[in-house]
Amino acid sequence: MARPISARTALCGVILHPAGHTRSPAMHNAAFEALGIDARYLAFDVAPADLAAAIAGARALGIRQLAVSIPHKQAVMEHLDAVEETARLIGAVNTITRDGERLVGANTDWSGAVRALERERKLAGAHAVVLGAGGTARAVVFGLRERGARVSVLNRSVDRARALAAELGAERAGPLDDLAATPCDVLVNTTSVGLRDPDASAVPAAALPRGALVMDVVYDPPRTRLLRDAAAAGCTTVAGKWMLVEQAAEQLRLWTGQEPPLERMAEAFDRAGTAQQGSEEAT
Ligand SMILES: NC(=O)c1ccc[n+]([C@@H]2O[C@H](COP(=O)([O-])OP(=O)(O)OC[C@H]3O[C@@H](n4cnc5c(N)ncnc54)[C@H](OP(=O)(O)O)[C@@H]3O)[C@@H](O)[C@H]2O)c1
Repeated sequence: MARPISARTALCGVILHPAGHTRSPAMHNAAFEALGIDARYLAFDVAPADLAAAIAGARALGIRQLAVSIPHKQAVMEHLDAVEETARLIGAVNTITRDGERLVGANTDWSGAVRALERERKLAGAHAVVLGAGGTARAVVFGLRERGARVSVLNRSVDRARALAAELGAERAGPLDDLAATPCDVLVNTTSVGLRDPDASAVPAAALPRGALVMDVVYDPPRTRLLRDAAAAGCTTVAGKWMLVEQAAEQLRLWTGQEPPLERMAEAFDRAGTAQQGSEEAT
């Protein structure tokens, strides 16, 4: 049972646009309930033109923590009092936490991604391949490098792969076609290919590295074509839901210092997905 709302109840939330549906409120409210934290978490649809006003409002209302989703992860940085070094290096903030009177930006996508992978194996020294060179790829490449993996970035637009690799210290960059010829113990798809399309994959099944660890950041559908192909190739697979749950858990650690109930959050994620099947969703 959730605690009754009182004058002391803390408010948290996620800003995104368009609102569509997001499973963040379900995950965070489940965690608050399990940990006995007197807080509620809501979703706020904030159009880009209203971003400055929304952050000023969050400041004035004393909102304790805000997750930041598409399309605000870069633009929000200029409205904050401080941005942690990792978020600055990645170039995106997905979490704003109130620290006294200050709003501090952080990025938990990178740690969410590596924690999800570390459920299965250590990353130090691994040959990792990241498919994609967009915003999520930046966080994933940063995280893999942070853990000591050797990273290759493969992307449809090779120039973007090269630029990202040079900036974040990846060893190789190339087109998606290079996968079969690239050393790979850990493969992470960060492209949006497969999103709400169970038949699409960014790479052909024949190119998958047999026996590797494979994660798809796409979590709708829960078992993407890539994950099904990877399982058939003898790979260990990690579903995108675990990255989302782990990055949300890291947000809770940042605010409360408490250890989040991961399984309860994952169950809430699943229930929220069943309730909103077929609807739009942002991360
Ligand atoms: N699980 C999680 O916690 C989590 C967190 C954040 C995001 N996500 C998911 O990550 C995905 C990417 O988000 P993002 O913000 O990084 O997007 P983004 O910045 O727009 O980047 C999109 C990437 O996908 C590639 N791409 C798009 N369509 C393609 C196609 N038809 N064939 C090959 N490559 C294609 C793009 O290649 P080009 O450079 O060639 O255009 C680019 O590398 C989304 O599905 C999002 O929902 C998941």
